[in-house]
Amino acid sequence: MPSETRQISLDVGELPTHWYNVVPDLPEPLPPPRDPESGPSRVQKLPEYLIGECLRQEMSTERWVEIPEPLRRLYEQSGRPRPLFRARSLERLLQTPAHLYYKSEFYSPTGSHKVNTALAQAWYARQEGYRRLTTETGAGQWGTALAYAASLVGLECTVYWVRAVHRWKPQRLGFMRMLGATVYASPSPHTEVGRRLYEQDPEHPGSLGIAISEGLEDAGRDPHAVYSLGSVLNHVLMHQTIIGLETQRQFEKAGEYPDLMISCLGGGSNFGGFVLPFVGDVLTRGRKIRFLAAQSQAAPNLQGEYRYDFADHAEMTPMLKMYTLGHQATMRPIKGDGLRYHGCSPILSLLRHRGMIETVAYPPDEKHVFESALRFLRAEGFLPAPESAYSVCCAMDEAIRCRESGEAKVIAFNISGHGFMDVDGYREVLGFEPEKAHDAESHAYLGI
Ligand SMILES: Cc1ncc(COP(=O)(O)O)c(C=O)c1O
Repeated sequence: MPSETRQISLDVGELPTHWYNVVPDLPEPLPPPRDPESGPSRVQKLPEYLIGECLRQEMSTERWVEIPEPLRRLYEQSGRPRPLFRARSLERLLQTPAHLYYKSEFYSPTGSHKVNTALAQAWYARQEGYRRLTTETGAGQWGTALAYAASLVGLECTVYWVRAVHRWKPQRLGFMRMLGATVYASPSPHTEVGRRLYEQDPEHPGSLGIAISEGLEDAGRDPHAVYSLGSVLNHVLMHQTIIGLETQRQFEKAGEYPDLMISCLGGGSNFGGFVLPFVGDVLTRGRKIRFLAAQSQAAPNLQGEYRYDFADHAEMTPMLKMYTLGHQATMRPIKGDGLRYHGCSPILSLLRHRGMIETVAYPPDEKHVFESALRFLRAEGFLPAPESAYSVCCAMDEAIRCRESGEAKVIAFNISGHGFMDVDGYREVLGFEPEKAHDAESHAYLGI
């Protein structure tokens, strides 16, 4: 690779043809979903809620699952493959001997990696004759991605959006509506689960767990609708492995290999999608990589308990064996609200349990995280989504450690989305006035 190369790209013809399913390569069998000791069976009800092909993939032990040709064309339409960047300006700014690489999921048409599974789920739902998709969203990125995918394949879309975030992202709300989606702040008066909470407190900030219950209830009462989940489940992580599979090829082209891989983690879909193909290398080819998940102290689910728990607030889902803070835990809203979920995907939880994934949780004031994202923006020129800022910040902290230790580690991090619609969140946390953003004082404050 020439010494100043910054972008490692792939041709459209190099788009992966299969997703990677890590399940057969896991060090022990993945504990299956289970019913609670009393009450109706949630496991038996799964076919009523989930897209048939997604449910089949959820249980699959096939290592490679083919991406249907029309779906590959949709991936192409959404701008895949996406470049891997060498962060040379950031390396200089931090004076680190580390080699920093970031994957650019922020080039997605709706702003995040969520499009990778949204397109797959919408396409399969359309094949199976459904007319409408229902879902939850936290950051709003998943809701926008599903609205986009539904619009491309010709489905309707209903989104239940955590109220705390719905409130401060009017542009994203407008974007979802432009894509044709119906959007409700959650808890909402449109479902029984939502109504109970809404009537107690119309300003209830909501949570992903509550919004999931609302989406499930809505789909459950309409035979033409099906529910679509944006994270946590095995098939969602598998769809997202397109990120890591591309990254593997890009590292081959760069002639390097990561020592450390980092991303932010809410339910686990971008982290899983980015790292799982490399986890496969560690498990089956004896490679050595450290995997580090960046989280918020508002929802440090990987530091919770490893046990069976529900995926939603109203206990409509089966129980999943995962690291959890408890499905009805109260978690304070943050600007990186997509990270505020009580549980982590069962696959990643198992790997964490086996000591393969480390975690760091940043303070909920988000100052250090957003200050790092701003330094990144000014050096590299991309504004990360608030959630992705955790990934950026963690990679920068590790790069600074390399400066101190003198180690030239290869650090790969994923930037799961852009923050073009999140500037108000940055402003609120950092307290800057927009007109002052470029003056000498603010540069000094940021240490640039
Ligand atoms: C941009 C972005 N990154 C990360 C996340 C966290 O979700 P996950 O852990 O499933 O990647 C979200 C969730 O909304 C998001 O919008």
